[in-house]
Amino acid sequence: MNPSHLTAVLQQVYDSDPADPSLLQAQLSRYQEALRAFRLAFGPGPVHVYRAPGRVNLIGEHTDYNHGFVLPMALEKDILLLARPRADGRVTLRNIEPARFPDRSFTLSPSIPPGPVGDWANYVKGPAQALVRLLGITHGMDALVVGKAPFGVPIGAGLSSSSALTVVSAMALLDLNNGSMPPMEFAHFCAQAEWYVGTRGGVMDHFTSVLGRRGHALFLDCRPAGVPPTQYRTEWVPLPPQYSILVCDSGKRRANTLSDYNVRVAECKLGVALLQRRWPAITHLRDVTAEQMGFAPAELDAFLAEHLPEEADFAALRQLDLSPAFLDGLAADHRLTPTQTFRVRARCRHVIRENQRVIESADALRASDGRRFGRYMLESHQSLRDDYEASCAEVDVLVDLLAGRPEVLGARLTGAGWGGCVVALLDAGAETGFMAEVAETYKARTGLALEWFAGRAAAGVNGWKHFAEL
Ligand code: GLA
Repeated sequence: MNPSHLTAVLQQVYDSDPADPSLLQAQLSRYQEALRAFRLAFGPGPVHVYRAPGRVNLIGEHTDYNHGFVLPMALEKDILLLARPRADGRVTLRNIEPARFPDRSFTLSPSIPPGPVGDWANYVKGPAQALVRLLGITHGMDALVVGKAPFGVPIGAGLSSSSALTVVSAMALLDLNNGSMPPMEFAHFCAQAEWYVGTRGGVMDHFTSVLGRRGHALFLDCRPAGVPPTQYRTEWVPLPPQYSILVCDSGKRRANTLSDYNVRVAECKLGVALLQRRWPAITHLRDVTAEQMGFAPAELDAFLAEHLPEEADFAALRQLDLSPAFLDGLAADHRLTPTQTFRVRARCRHVIRENQRVIESADALRASDGRRFGRYMLESHQSLRDDYEASCAEVDVLVDLLAGRPEVLGARLTGAGWGGCVVALLDAGAETGFMAEVAETYKARTGLALEWFAGRAAAGVNGWKHFAEL
């Protein structure tokens, strides 16, 4: 592959400061290393290259599966997948970090058996199975996945490395089978394909990875319209140059995020089911607004106290007239344990308020009002911490340390939660000076090493056909 052609392609994808070519140089070496590794694994011949970015959510957490609003942006951190189509339906997967992600292979079919929970190949099997079901694809691939630091999406950090792998795999298999889909349908398809791994996640991650734009955040209304319902309202909001975004990885990882996440999804559905007894037209928490339900905005607490229990277990829920069939279905779909208790009221309060905050934050961003935006971020964090209980001690320490700095306009947990990353908004150019000190205090208080990087809004998924002849 001719390096000047490769440089030109990469220039289009990654933000490159003409005054500082080092970033592009480093990406060039990364792609060249990936191409060499592919040739070593699968031999000479043509290779197709695909990339899908991770994302950082600026605000709007746990609102997507409630048909609410989110405001994320795609990151320059991404996952590459280099592939060559196969005549048969075999998919052979290698990873550039084989010790961490061992070789895997499987055969395309409408029902591909998943590996153990958390196995990296499940994120490829999910879209593969879904593409067989939807389009009857028949060509497998020999593929190399490249996601290592510093350019890869950090894993388990709330930056959607798993969705990036789902999206890049779907893109590759679709393209290698000469298929195509309009971007929104494709994003919607990827979101559902990822349910294969056992989560009941929303659409935010896949939409951002597919539709991301350089220099922009994506305002996404997560309520689908159309028949079939795959059309979403989107708006790309430019990020004002006077602010910058910092992504700080707390270093905290928690093993049972999947089940905590599913419990939250179930708690939101319980809130809806309870409110439906009186307002049958509502289908998601998105519908619970002051106008629609007829209460004054300041009376949300009183409204929720009247209609939703603070805490309830299955026995209490049955007493509240929720049908056993509904409760059994919910328990099975979300893998709930029979002894589980649900803090329905607080969970719903978070979602209802967070939706409002996203609408107002998008306004603040359009008006380049970083101070106002920062205040919403802090409120969002408090709500995630207290009402949604999706934070953890380490992340709370980090948010407090950041929020205490004059350079920081706002900071909050980002992504599913229970560890992972914090996103902060700063006056542009301010970040490098004080982060070493924040990291030192953070380490003293938590024992964890902090990592951080500038969040630059990048373009969504790309694919290059016959990218190189090795
Ligand atoms: C995970 C899910 C998303 C979203 C966030 C929380 O990242 O994949 O769909 O629900 O958590 O906002």
